[in-house]
Amino acid sequence: MASYKFLLLSLVLSSFNHLFCYSKLDEDRTLGYLDDISSYDMTAYPSYYGAVHGERGTIAYQPNRFVLERVARVARFGYSQKVVNVKDHGAKGDGTDDTEAFEEAWKEACSSSTSAVLVVPENKSYLLKPITFSGPCKSDVSLMIKGTIEASSDRSDWNGKNGRHWILFSGIQNLYVGGGGSINGNGKIWWQNSCKINKAPPCKDAPTAMTFYSCDKLTVENLNIKDSQQIHVSFDRSTNVEVSSLTITAPESSPNTDGIHVTNTKNIQITNCVIGTGDDCISIESGSQNLKATNIVCGPGHGISIGSLGDHGLEAQVSDVIVDTAQLKGTTNGARIKTWQTSAVEVSNVMYKNFKGTSASEVAINFDCSTTLPCHDIILQDIDLTGGDGNAATSSCNHVNWTKKGNVIPLPCAK
Ligand SMILES: *[C@@H]1O[C@H](CO)[C@@H](O)[C@H](O)[C@H]1NC(C)=O
Ligand SMILES: *[C@@H]1O[C@H](CO)[C@@H](O)[C@H](O)[C@H]1NC(C)=O
Repeated sequence: MASYKFLLLSLVLSSFNHLFCYSKLDEDRTLGYLDDISSYDMTAYPSYYGAVHGERGTIAYQPNRFVLERVARVARFGYSQKVVNVKDHGAKGDGTDDTEAFEEAWKEACSSSTSAVLVVPENKSYLLKPITFSGPCKSDVSLMIKGTIEASSDRSDWNGKNGRHWILFSGIQNLYVGGGGSINGNGKIWWQNSCKINKAPPCKDAPTAMTFYSCDKLTVENLNIKDSQQIHVSFDRSTNVEVSSLTITAPESSPNTDGIHVTNTKNIQITNCVIGTGDDCISIESGSQNLKATNIVCGPGHGISIGSLGDHGLEAQVSDVIVDTAQLKGTTNGARIKTWQTSAVEVSNVMYKNFKGTSASEVAINFDCSTTLPCHDIILQDIDLTGGDGNAATSSCNHVNWTKKGNVIPLPCAK
C-alpha cells in the first residue's frame, strides 16, 4: 500500500502554471458577521490569515457575476411565483415519515412553468428517508427550509437504495436552498457502525446528508446542518456554486463527518461558514477548479485539506484554490495537501502567507514531497508559528524547493 504524503499548511494551490490575483475583502464587515453567527471568541485563539498576490494574470473567479445572480434571486421572490408547501402535500412534521409528501411537493415545484418556492414550514420537524430531488426543472426552484428536516435513524430504510446519499439534488439548474432551518442527519447509529469505530465486518458506506450532483448555478446558504451520517454537504460535478452562512456541527469523535466536500466542481465560493466536526472542515478532491473559501471558522476537526489526490496512481488535478481568512482552533491539522506516493501528482505554485498561531504538533511545517516529482515553486511568506506549550515549533522537509518572503518561523529546512 502506498504511503501517505502530505504537506501541512497549504493556503493556495495552483498547479499547471495558473496565476491569480487577490481582491481584498472588507474585513470589518466579514469579521463582524462571523461574530454574529458564531459563539467563538475571535480574539481568544490564534488566527490564520492567508492571501495571495499574483504578479500577473487573472483569476477566473468573478465576484460581480455572483452579485448579479443574487439580485436575480431576490427578484424571484416576487409575485409571479408559485408557492408550494410540503404540508399541502400531506407532510405532518410529527415524527411520521414525510418522504412521499416531499417527493410530491418537489414534483409540483419542479414542473411549475413559473419559478417556484418550495416551503418547509418552521417549528416542525419532518422525517425523511433517503430522497432524491431531480432536475431538470421547468423553472428556477427555491427550497426554503424554515423548519427542521431529520433523517430516519433506521438504517434499513436504505436497503435497496443508494447507501451513499440521504438527500440528493441531481441535475438541477438555478437551484436555491436556504431558509435558516436545520438539517439533522441523526448520525449516531451510523457512527457506531462505522469501520473506524466497530471493526467487525462488513464495512459499509454511510450516507452524505446533502449531495448536490451535477447542478449548475446553485446557491446553498443560511442553514444549520448537524450530525450527518458521514459527509455533511457534498458538491460533485457541479458548476457556479455559492455557499454561505452554513453552520455545520458534529461531535469531534464522529468518523468521516467532513463538513463541506468538493469534488469535480468548478467555480465555487464558500464564505462565512462555521464548521466543527470529526473530520476535515473542507475537503477538496480531484477535478476541482477555481475554489475560493473565505472567512471560515474551523474546529474541532482535521482542518482544511486538498486531497487525497492520486489514489491508485490515477491522475488528479486541483487548481486555483484560495483559502483566505480561516481561523482554526482545536484542529489536528491546519491546511494540508495530501497526495499518494505515486507518480501521478505534482504539487507546485503554492503560497502560504500570513499564518499565525500555535501548532497542534511540534512539527508545524511539514513538506514531505515525492522523490520523483519534488514540490516546486512553494512560497512561504510571513509565517509565525509556535509549538504547543510555548515551545518553539520545528519543521520537516523532503524534496521541496521553496522560497521565503518576510519572516518565516520556523524555517522549513536549511537551504
Ligand atoms: C414558531 O415559533 C416561534 C417561537 O415560539 C413563534 O414566535 C412563531 O410564531 C412560530 N411560527 C409558527 C408559524 O407557528
Ligand atoms: C531546486 O532548485 C534548484 C535550482 O533551481 C535545482 O538545482 C534543484 O534540483 C531543485 N531541487 C528540487 C528538490 O527540486
